[in-house]
Amino acid sequence: MRRPLVMGNWKLNGNKAVIEDLIKGIDIELNGVEGVDIAIAPPVMFLDLAKQLLSQVQSKIILGAQNVDVNLNGSFTGDISPRMLKEFGTTYVIIGHSERREYHAESDELVAKKFASVKESGMVPILCIGESNAQNEAGETLEVCTRQLDAVIKIQGVDALNGTVIAYEPIWAIGTGKAATSKNAQYIHSAIRAHIAVQSEEVAKNVIIQYGGSVKPENAAAYFTQPDIDGALVGGAALNAKSFAVIAKKAATAKDLIYSRTQFIGKNII
Ligand code: 13P
Repeated sequence: MRRPLVMGNWKLNGNKAVIEDLIKGIDIELNGVEGVDIAIAPPVMFLDLAKQLLSQVQSKIILGAQNVDVNLNGSFTGDISPRMLKEFGTTYVIIGHSERREYHAESDELVAKKFASVKESGMVPILCIGESNAQNEAGETLEVCTRQLDAVIKIQGVDALNGTVIAYEPIWAIGTGKAATSKNAQYIHSAIRAHIAVQSEEVAKNVIIQYGGSVKPENAAAYFTQPDIDGALVGGAALNAKSFAVIAKKAATAKDLIYSRTQFIGKNII
């Protein structure tokens, strides 16, 4: 059975004091909450600090990174290798976030190679996919999402998605407050799962598909009560311990009920 994952992507925010406050705040809010995996992705400079702080708190909060280089080592000035992230206690690595694709011209192929490199280094990639506003208005959402996904399947095979995470993040919903409706998000999630199921029902059944884009305490439950939405990748609202905790708690409650009621058939379109 899938387990929901709520992850805070802190992007380029924070300093030592903010990181400490956030981690301690999240711990207080989420201590004892079961039924959801909770992760944070601080800026890479603060991974070591975060790791130390996480070892001192009660809650199980998993460490993630926001990006990584494709190479394991070598003459790549300024880059950070998957092995280094692993050594610093990282479990999840966000790959192909739309901000990386846009501001750093990351191609589907490069993202697919990073996916492989992260897996080989013993961590879990979170593969971000999603369409722009123009693509959405042109009705190209599924075409874009499946193309981004197929880039990974092409070089790695569908089984490579086993034990990994996909994050559907429509670009027009990121940081805009204009979130996708839960029904529309469910439709895309279900279609992504069905696309994977064509090659492997087993992989499709088990892969976690998060939604990301203006997830807030107020709208979180609507996503988590959809059968194919397995958690959230949260930006802005993750920078507030209380808001982030409310979202994570809603995932724990809603998913417990939904997973026990719905069986995956790749056709959970409602
Ligand atoms: P917001 O929650 O701020 O829209 O950001 C979403 C995101 O990009 C998470 O990776």
